Amino acid sequence: MIKRFFSSTADIPEAAAVPRHVAIIMDGNGRWAKKRLMPRVAGHAQGVERVRDIVEACIRRGIGYLTLFAFSSENWRRPQDEVNRLMELFVMALEREVDKMHRNGVCLKVVGDLSRFDQRLRDLIAQGEARTLDNARLTLTVCANYGGRWDILNAVNRWRGDNPGQDELTEDGLAAYLTLAYAPEPDLFIRTGGEQRISNFLLWQLAYAELYFTDTLWPDFDGKALDLAIASYQKRERRFGRTSEQLLER
Ligand code: FPP
Repeated sequence: MIKRFFSSTADIPEAAAVPRHVAIIMDGNGRWAKKRLMPRVAGHAQGVERVRDIVEACIRRGIGYLTLFAFSSENWRRPQDEVNRLMELFVMALEREVDKMHRNGVCLKVVGDLSRFDQRLRDLIAQGEARTLDNARLTLTVCANYGGRWDILNAVNRWRGDNPGQDELTEDGLAAYLTLAYAPEPDLFIRTGGEQRISNFLLWQLAYAELYFTDTLWPDFDGKALDLAIASYQKRERRFGRTSEQLLER
């Protein structure tokens, strides 16, 4: 049974001081490596270390959901060597980290079209998810071979399959079929690496997220950098379509 969360366009969610859900595009691994005259994949390896630190930092700060864009539907266009190395890193990270995640109360979810990944990786994902299913301290979602448009189309098609002959699809109806239906919408979106784009990430779910862009490259993004993002979030006035005056009346 999926918990129903508020939809930021249909309802007015409560905005907590610490974001409940942080979503991150981890960009800049290649540049981080290039600056050090290292191969791009060295940047990805360092990026995995940062994932571990940021998961722990989120737990310490009481953030309930962390969603990371690890591999987009478009990343297959990268050189084959780099794609292979990224796949190896995912396998290694799953082999090494799931135990610790479990001990730390992390519930792991991997969302995206996993059919293109090899069987070994898919098995490790299934095992990691099954092992950590009942953990509730932090839900860590890794988006892999994920695209926001794919997610929406997939949801519409699955809804159609389950509701033949019905032609009115509501916001709630669709949201329940999206891959992140188990999570509240992100409060804070962070993109590292200096670009200011959403890059086909959570197109539906980011409707009212606060957007934070930083030049810091992902392999340099640490707890302090996360705190700067949270401080910026805390200064924002989240109106969800209302006026500032209406907020003062509450
Ligand atoms: C973008 O940097 C980063 C990626 C496409 C891969 C991100 C993946 C990781 C950090 C590993 C994640 C691992 C787990 C286990 C979740 P880029 O290569 O586009 O950097 P650039 O813009 O400097 O070239």
